[in-house]
Amino acid sequence: MARDVQDELVRAEAETGGPRHVAIIMDGNGRWAQNRGRPRLFGHHAGARRVREVLSACPGLGVKYLTIFAFSTENWKRTQTEVAGLMSLFRRYITREAKALFDEGVCVRFIGDRVRLDPKLVIMMDDLELRTADNDRVHLTIALNYGGRDELTRAAKRLAYEIECGRLTHKDVDAETLARFLDTHVLPDPDLVIRTSGEARISNFLLWQSAYAEYEFIDTLWPDFTAEIFAGVVGAYARRDRRFGAVRA
Ligand code: FPP
Repeated sequence: MARDVQDELVRAEAETGGPRHVAIIMDGNGRWAQNRGRPRLFGHHAGARRVREVLSACPGLGVKYLTIFAFSTENWKRTQTEVAGLMSLFRRYITREAKALFDEGVCVRFIGDRVRLDPKLVIMMDDLELRTADNDRVHLTIALNYGGRDELTRAAKRLAYEIECGRLTHKDVDAETLARFLDTHVLPDPDLVIRTSGEARISNFLLWQSAYAEYEFIDTLWPDFTAEIFAGVVGAYARRDRRFGAVRA
């Protein structure tokens, strides 16, 4: 990381505190590949390499939780070749990175609906979660077959089932109870959501959890998103004034 970026970050953090939980919509892999005359999957592979770099930068920046949007409930609409290529990339990523993730003290979790995923991939996801469960240096959450509306629908269904079984009543239903049924129930809400590639939309990502998050939409395509750029965005967050609907005293 460049020295001036680091200095700026330390100063900003001392003033107001940096984000503890950063969530990223990693957009722009396809365009990055197309700009080079290569197939879209080439961009996804380059994007996977950036995950490692950004994750490694987290502890130094005070980011304890990193959540990344790897595959949405809408991404099944892509070509069969791209979907299969992405699924194979996820399997490869788990196989290749598992040891390094464990050694670096990363606790890995997956959010999203696992029902539609290949059972072999699900077993690998379960294994990685189990293997890294006691790690606490940084918490990486990978959203795979994830959609905010889908997550809320599944949560509502499970809540309704608890009521049907008599373990809860409608009087128990409040924001806190509903949040306990979300995939993210063990995570704090994101403080900062970053989307790369110049698109300014949230695409069904962490709809409930991001109610008070700060958003940063940046033009860089995800495979070009370096640790230096990440540090700059984290530093800019530290200078923002978050009021959560209240007025500063
Ligand atoms: C969006 O870019 C990106 C995705 C749908 C896939 C994100 C996946 C990775 C970065 C792969 C690595 C992840 C892990 C956990 C190994 P896009 O394809 O929509 O880009 P475009 O808008 O330029 O077409």
